[in-house]
Amino acid sequence: MNYRHIYHAGNFADVMKHALMLPLLRGMQRKDKPFLVLDTHAGIGRYDVRSEQAEKTGEWRDGIGRILETPPPALAEYVALMGSLGLYPGSPAIAAALLRQQDRLVACELHPEDAATLRRNLRGTPGVAVHERDGYEAMGAFLPPPEKRALVLIDPPFERTDEFEVLSKSLVAAWQKFPSGVFVVWYPIKHRGPVRNFFESLKLSPVRDVIALELLRRPDTDPGRLNGCGLLVINPPYGFEAEALPVLQACEKVFGEPGSSSVIERVINE
Ligand SMILES: C[S@@+](CC[C@H](N)C(=O)[O-])C[C@H]1O[C@@H](n2cnc3c(N)ncnc32)[C@H](O)[C@@H]1O
Repeated sequence: MNYRHIYHAGNFADVMKHALMLPLLRGMQRKDKPFLVLDTHAGIGRYDVRSEQAEKTGEWRDGIGRILETPPPALAEYVALMGSLGLYPGSPAIAAALLRQQDRLVACELHPEDAATLRRNLRGTPGVAVHERDGYEAMGAFLPPPEKRALVLIDPPFERTDEFEVLSKSLVAAWQKFPSGVFVVWYPIKHRGPVRNFFESLKLSPVRDVIALELLRRPDTDPGRLNGCGLLVINPPYGFEAEALPVLQACEKVFGEPGSSSVIERVINE
């Protein structure tokens, strides 16, 4: 495991994902009934973007750095939450901050050092449990949850060349155990081929009701670059798309280069 998220925390792809977590969590919270957030690839939860590691790539400057220069109104709530949390918050910190008394967060992280840091960072937060374990395997263990409602956030490092295949198999297996769950997958767009194959594999499965939100900073002609990223959402919560669109468009406005685009598209019907 070579990947460490500190080198990438706060880059444009992280910001898009984190900003979209707010309408996702709000969508889940339209109902009073409790739910579980299962963060399968949680990272360390809080990132010092001024640290030596983060500054080594400087990716945050082209991401959250640009947002903070002139915060777009559609991201005001996200920026305010970040301000109240201190260091740049990762997905488990955002989920933990928005949990209601009745909700729970289970955050899984496989890297032993990062799992220990995450545990320290979230220590004492009510309703939160950190597990050092494989996030794909954890979906089998924690789903279906006793609450019968869950938001499952799957954010792998895409270090392995077969990550899309492993992801697709694990996702379909988890959906089969818990077809009413809300599953959210972050994926990179270097070029269209791997993403198309991922979508095709889901179309051949029994999974229904799937949308994708994509931000392309530039046309994906150079496969050596992270040209964009997407969030695939199975069973999107009611009202999510309407709230997500301005957030996505604001990200395009800040991060887009000539030829950029942002879309919400339906991948599989209900
Ligand atoms: C992209 S980062 C996660 C960032 C985090 N979700 C956020 O938004 O703040 C991916 C994380 O997954 C961890 N990881 C890699 N393989 C894993 C696995 N099979 N199960 C759980 N965690 C894994 C890595 O150590 C890394 O911290």
